[in-house]
Amino acid sequence: MSPALPHRVIFDTDPGVDDAMALYFALAHPDIQVLGITTTFGNVTVQQGAANALYLCALAGRQIPVTQGVARPWVKPGEAPPAYIHGADGLGNLPERMAVKEQLDPRSSAQFIVDMARANPGQITLVAVGPLGNLSLALRLEPELPRLLKQVILMGGTVLEPGNVSPVAEANIWNDPHAADQVFTAGWPLTMVGLDVTHRLVLPVTLFERIAQHHRHRATDTLHHAVAFYANFYGSRFEHVAAVHGCFGHDVLAFIYLVAPHLFQTKSGQIRVATDGVAQGQTILKRQAGIEYPQAGWEAALPSSTACMGVDAEACSALFESTMMRPWLSA
Ligand code: BDR
Ligand code: CA
Repeated sequence: MSPALPHRVIFDTDPGVDDAMALYFALAHPDIQVLGITTTFGNVTVQQGAANALYLCALAGRQIPVTQGVARPWVKPGEAPPAYIHGADGLGNLPERMAVKEQLDPRSSAQFIVDMARANPGQITLVAVGPLGNLSLALRLEPELPRLLKQVILMGGTVLEPGNVSPVAEANIWNDPHAADQVFTAGWPLTMVGLDVTHRLVLPVTLFERIAQHHRHRATDTLHHAVAFYANFYGSRFEHVAAVHGCFGHDVLAFIYLVAPHLFQTKSGQIRVATDGVAQGQTILKRQAGIEYPQAGWEAALPSSTACMGVDAEACSALFESTMMRPWLSA
């Protein structure tokens, strides 16, 4: 193991089926240490998301601090969570749940991020896979946050691939475009893992069945159940996904980028978010370097980010499977 490892991570999430997939990949991966889970609204209400994070950790036998974060977007009205995608409970409508004794950390998600970053300056990677209100609030609490965190890797947005909630918008950015624009312009090392790459990673339900059969554990059984529900939604929308009875592995790619960035092709440039109008939620990457535009909002001083534009999906799929097959679960 190189001295820089393991990657010390705060996971900001709206769990959510692919969020659950991502969390379990992170827990299974030897080079990732999850220091805390901060939750937000999105796929479910924030209360349900926090309960799901506690539940997923309890199932996996891990004690990780979990906080509850923002419940709605900064400016626009909130929307009902998409129960038809993730289930009303966010985990594919589980038939039953075991009791969980672990309690939430009483701090807000934003306060937790700030506290951890201050205590470990330059060491923590923030992996964010939901709407970005917690990061936006954390920036208001601690304007030095961009220098206190090591990097931000977020699943959200799209450059060339069509959006998934409008022709141009991806769901996490759409859910809080004002917070997202603040996050993209804050000035931290930031990588956007958007639909340009997540729509390339189709994971079949049979893969989760193999993982569940291998471990014979309630954590991987629960994941298998949740993914089977989630795959029904994607199968109803995308023929090539239906053909393998699978789903997109959106959020897990943020963690795969963390541990295997060589599997991605990227492009750097300034990224802004359209906050209003028909393009609301669109992530706009300035793709031509060296051009000075006369329009406000694209000044040269604006920080640059990295956008993932291509991915070796087969290698990601293989890495996901081999990681999930590791002995990461206790009896
Ligand atoms: C993103 O939106 C959510 O539904 C998923 O969990 C993922 O973070 C995909 O657009
Ligand atoms: Ca998510």
